[in-house]
Amino acid sequence: MRAFSLLVLLPVALANPLNVRSTACNNSPDLCSKSYGEITHLGAHDSPFVRDSTTSDSVAGDQYYDTPTQLDAGVRLVTGQVHQSNSQWHLCHTSCDLLDAGLLSSWLGDIKTWLDDNPNEVVTVLLVNSDSASASDLNTEFETANITSYAYEPTSLDSAPTSWPTLQTMINDGKRLVVFIASLTTSSSYPYLMDEFTFVWENPYNVISPSNFSCVPQRPSSVSGSASTALSSNRLPLMNHFLYSSDLSSLGIEYPNASYVSTTNAPSGGVGNLGSTATKCKSAWDGRQPTFILVDFFNRGPAIETVDNLNNVTNAVGRTSLTTSAAESSDGSTISNVFKDLVGLAEAAAAGSTPTMGNWIWVGGNWGSVLGGGISL
Ligand SMILES: *[C@@H]1O[C@H](CO)[C@@H](O)[C@H](O)[C@H]1NC(C)=O
Ligand SMILES: *[C@@H]1O[C@H](CO)[C@@H](O)[C@H](O)[C@H]1NC(C)=O
Ligand SMILES: *[C@@H]1O[C@H](CO)[C@@H](O)[C@H](O)[C@H]1NC(C)=O
Ligand SMILES: *[C@@H]1O[C@H](CO)[C@@H](O)[C@H](O)[C@H]1NC(C)=O
Repeated sequence: MRAFSLLVLLPVALANPLNVRSTACNNSPDLCSKSYGEITHLGAHDSPFVRDSTTSDSVAGDQYYDTPTQLDAGVRLVTGQVHQSNSQWHLCHTSCDLLDAGLLSSWLGDIKTWLDDNPNEVVTVLLVNSDSASASDLNTEFETANITSYAYEPTSLDSAPTSWPTLQTMINDGKRLVVFIASLTTSSSYPYLMDEFTFVWENPYNVISPSNFSCVPQRPSSVSGSASTALSSNRLPLMNHFLYSSDLSSLGIEYPNASYVSTTNAPSGGVGNLGSTATKCKSAWDGRQPTFILVDFFNRGPAIETVDNLNNVTNAVGRTSLTTSAAESSDGSTISNVFKDLVGLAEAAAAGSTPTMGNWIWVGGNWGSVLGGGISL
């Protein structure tokens, strides 16, 4: 009888080795039963491009903390740009001469380690495919990072589904990594590599005035200008909410407006704050909350407060809180860095490796673009 009980009980215990899994999903017990597409995920724009001592406080850095630290603090969407450099796939911001955050596969390896260490969490990766990597090229990077077994596969790569699984289902299935690529010729050989704009739509991102954040869909062009068209396409709403500088816009140079970020990312308060904008967008979208909110310097605001409000989360667990970094304590004094950082681009241009956005020259005390190409960091 005793032996029989053991045989019966053992498989049950093994089937759910971590009962802790049912306690919280993405930092809250209330989110486990919610659909991936119906909650709001906090996104770190340009996640690997960090403004800290490792980059000499580069003005091309859009975050003060690295990707694992972002995830520890509650970020669940990380975005980056993939560029080709020396026949390798790197994460670079605009140009590898400006800010090179290393190999894509290394960064994905960091995310794999984080997922291993955090078994109740669902993470989304969105990569801008700057040099048109193929699905096969990208898959090689994901394989190198040994992260493909975590990757969620949609039922179809050709259109957005009417609904997404709950976080708990994704966690139970071990499919806790969602991957979007902008843009990608998809391949049935790599069914987890989704073309972003087949599954997601976005509001405008190139905003230089805090009074100009907009809830009107912009991309893809098939839904541009119409919230009802965007919503009925079943694509997930991604709300861009980061502010670019305006002081060098006549030169075509835009970099993150860090001096205003405590307002931009705030739950309420001054013009362009995140909380009011999210409320405005939710109502413009027939009550649909943004699936993703993408911000610069995510720890400021703090942006997570607006995300918790949208998710009705009052009892977040398992997040680390961050201290003010050295770079962010000098938020407003990055203007000299703009010119310092553009020297690298100019030197590269002079050496014949022309940066993608054009050659940069010194004009009347400022770096300007000869070819008239702009730069948005
Ligand atoms: C790859 O990841 C799987 C699942 O997390 C793990 O079991 C396996 O040991 C990893 N392989 C290598 C070579 O690290
Ligand atoms: C405000 O946004 C609109 C539409 O995105 C754009 O055409 C306009 O130039 C923007 N104005 C300012 C001052 O940023
Ligand atoms: C940042 O935004 C604030 C508010 O609009 C503005 O006063 C400031 O000049 C902007 N900074 C830059 C560098 O454009
Ligand atoms: C939060 O509550 C609001 C208002 O009841 C509801 O519309 C929304 O769907 C809820 N969101 C989540 C993620 O529970």
